[in-house]
Amino acid sequence: METNSACRVVVLIGGNGSNLQALIDDTRQHNRSYSIVGVISHRPDAYGLIRAQNASIATTVVDHRQYDAQAFESALLDAVKAYSPTLIVMAGFMRILTAEFVDQFPTQILNIHPSLLPKFRGLHTHQRALEAGETEHGVSVHYVTKELDGGPIIAQIKVPVLPDDEVDTLKDRVFTAEHWLYPQVVEWYAQKRLKCVENIVTLDGERLGPLGLQLTLPTVRSNANL
Ligand code: GAR
Repeated sequence: METNSACRVVVLIGGNGSNLQALIDDTRQHNRSYSIVGVISHRPDAYGLIRAQNASIATTVVDHRQYDAQAFESALLDAVKAYSPTLIVMAGFMRILTAEFVDQFPTQILNIHPSLLPKFRGLHTHQRALEAGETEHGVSVHYVTKELDGGPIIAQIKVPVLPDDEVDTLKDRVFTAEHWLYPQVVEWYAQKRLKCVENIVTLDGERLGPLGLQLTLPTVRSNANL
């Protein structure tokens, strides 16, 4: 439920929106300090838009194919500012934000990335982890800076890579971790427990290591199919 004091979250999506759904479900199931005030997609056909509409959350489409790069970012900036967000949460938003954009929202943008950063920045992380013969893979949530997938890491969850894994089985295991981790981190942010000063991340005043908090799933939850 939204209150005047709630942290106003805008979620940026570009596809299925399962992480958005995890955040929506989290706000429904728990008394959270944040509320999702808007969802912005860079694709008009993103299923996440339907998830938002089903939850009566306002949506905006800024179709990246309708703009050149500079105009796209300018339109995105207008769309984001229209929601007066406290926090911008990137959840499958597959466009790179420039330094000019990021600088407008210092330490106010989070991203979730399906790898144990700094390993496997960019795309096709599950395929690359399998090809590299990794025995562990996972998810990272980090602050967004102008460096792609390179901002200060807040938390990670490792998952095992099993001998018979294929991209989809590994991806599902990582998704289970993603859907648990992202609402957790957003709630810490909303409660003002999380801080980032000069790229140093603290939680409750405790300085986190360069890879952030290393968490484990409390229980194995089968929610990869959100
Ligand atoms: C998620 O796996 C997220 O970690 C990834 O895109 C997927 C979006 O899924 N993000 C990135 O790769 C960002 N570099 P969703 O639309 O179902 O939440």
